[in-house]
Amino acid sequence: MNDTIIELKGLTKRYGYGDTESFALKDFDLTIKRGEFIMIMGPSGCGKTTLLNIIGLLDRATSGEYTLNGKNVASISSARQARLRAKKIGFIFQNFNLIEDLSILENVALPLVYVNRPRTVRLKNASQALERFHLQEREYYLPGQLSGGQQQRVAIARAIVSDPEIILADEPTGNLDSHASNIVMEELKAIHEEGNTIIMVTHNPALTVYATRVINMLDGQIDTDVKTVADQNLPQPIDVKIKKRSKRSKSNKSNKSNKRRKR
Ligand SMILES: Nc1ncnc2c1ncn2[C@@H]1O[C@H](COP(=O)(O)OP(=O)(O)OP(=O)(O)O)[C@@H](O)[C@H]1O
Ligand SMILES: [Mg+2]
Repeated sequence: MNDTIIELKGLTKRYGYGDTESFALKDFDLTIKRGEFIMIMGPSGCGKTTLLNIIGLLDRATSGEYTLNGKNVASISSARQARLRAKKIGFIFQNFNLIEDLSILENVALPLVYVNRPRTVRLKNASQALERFHLQEREYYLPGQLSGGQQQRVAIARAIVSDPEIILADEPTGNLDSHASNIVMEELKAIHEEGNTIIMVTHNPALTVYATRVINMLDGQIDTDVKTVADQNLPQPIDVKIKKRSKRSKSNKSNKSNKRRKR
């Protein structure tokens, strides 16, 4: 059975005081199991990005509890939060958020700076991540020289380069045509099948076929929450499989990132 990776209890995000007080999230409860592919939908302004930013440790809630891998994140310093974010969480945004004057390779290598990898390792890992998305021939292009779909695949390569367990995607197909959107969704599907947890915001109901759970939000709260895949049928994280396998064969030194690179 997959364990709980994220638990939110009574999470509230308030903006302003008195007459200007408003709530982006209100007493929000959510438990996420490892290996879920959650799609979050809901009208503009209902709090989807706020939720993703709090889960991704880019923002803090006004009150409530956020437990990540069994740790209460409110009690840890901003510096430790940043390290945790670099190790555990990959982000994909609607507008790709690539740095325009850095090559594709340098862009993808960037998250590895925050986990203190030497430059040669960073570039090697970035190159391997780009290979997975068939973009290795464009390593030295600048983002502006790629199509939107290619840029988003670069952004996905950047999101997975440090082998995070959680991928957060805020309308990743929002700026793409349907062909590019399908390619991006197939890539996310493959990443999910490796046992990663994905939380994705979308306005496109057609994409919910990829999800194992669809949450509709309204006014900072959950309106509906439907699991389409039972918890026991979620993909097993690869490192758990490896642990089981290594009980049989101690010599197996492969790890999640090696496995991913071999694909
Ligand atoms: N910095 C801020 N100051 C004040 N209010 C904010 C701030 N950031 C967000 N809000 C408010 O919080 C609410 C939720 O915003 P959020 O960006 O999470 O919505 P969303 O569901 O992602 O919308 P969209 O679908 O348009 O992206 C909105 O009412 C917004 O105006
Ligand atoms: Mg948003």
